[in-house]
Amino acid sequence: MNVKLKAALWHYSGFFKPGRSRVGELPADVIQYLSPDNPFLKELKRRYAVFNESPHSSWASWEGKVNLLKFRGENDYVSQTYFLNTARRYEMTLAYAEAMDTLGLFSLLKEDELFGAKTWEFVPGQRISRDLMDSIIEITFLSQALGFKLNDRFRILDIGAGYGRFSHRFTTAFPNGSATCIDAVPTSTFLSDFYLKFRNCDRVKVVPLNHVADLQNGTYDLAMNIHSWSECTKQFITFWLDRLCDLKVPYLFIVPHFGNLSSLETDGASLTYDDELERCGFKLVLKQRKFHKSKLVDSLGVFPADYWLFKREINSRV
Ligand SMILES: C[S@@+](CC[C@H](N)C(=O)[O-])C[C@H]1O[C@@H](n2cnc3c(N)ncnc32)[C@H](O)[C@@H]1O
Repeated sequence: MNVKLKAALWHYSGFFKPGRSRVGELPADVIQYLSPDNPFLKELKRRYAVFNESPHSSWASWEGKVNLLKFRGENDYVSQTYFLNTARRYEMTLAYAEAMDTLGLFSLLKEDELFGAKTWEFVPGQRISRDLMDSIIEITFLSQALGFKLNDRFRILDIGAGYGRFSHRFTTAFPNGSATCIDAVPTSTFLSDFYLKFRNCDRVKVVPLNHVADLQNGTYDLAMNIHSWSECTKQFITFWLDRLCDLKVPYLFIVPHFGNLSSLETDGASLTYDDELERCGFKLVLKQRKFHKSKLVDSLGVFPADYWLFKREINSRV
């Protein structure tokens, strides 16, 4: 089945999945801003069209389907539900994430269901979502693997940042943490720029793709791509890896959709990029299941995945 057809089926099946998704109570100016006619969005589309000479990913055809008022809803950036057993999966994932929450992130980060996020409330007063729980599990993994603590000054570069899910959670919890979000899809840059301002994340910068050359050497402790490179072409993944070499980023965190690290080409083919990681000098230092402490949650939790952490010697000649 070709990529467009697969994406369309996936998109429309989302309408039949369980769970409530609401825009929420938003001020009129926000509703007006989140419009396909927004001049800033149009300008980003124009600029990216010039910059993206070769196809960046399958997002070219997906972008038009993003619901700008429900961008945290099913399908757009973060899949959230299953046809069966969704509530059970969320309940198990919550119990797991709470048990693993050594930084106390559940008391620092909250969910409000705005912009369509699907939420559950198993404990009265504690609303949870995949956005919230995935971010907590990812941050806990990274802080344990890299040894940074809540008050440390840790700087991330979030490539394929979507609407800014991770950077919002990370900088809310870490008072001295900072993040830069970058993306090859104009709608994603537009939404992350809007959302991170909406959430008052003043230690997050959203850099448009055509300003990629403005990113500064030696200013990031970690680069990440969470569920983004699995949707990109190998050519574009190589572009990002070369930028990480230029920027001398020592660590790289990858969360792929599937078991291996591979691209999605526009004809539906999938190519491994292990060779490019090797060429750039990235060495695997840790690979761990998202739910590594429980086989049961690993099979019945919310979207199990692998976490891959790479290190690159910054004096590497590549
Ligand atoms: C499934 S979303 C994941 C978003 C975010 N990382 C998260 O975990 O919430 C995939 C993201 O990859 C971005 N993307 C698609 N092609 C890209 C490319 N060539 N380079 C960088 N990002 C890309 C999309 O715009 C989107 O933001």
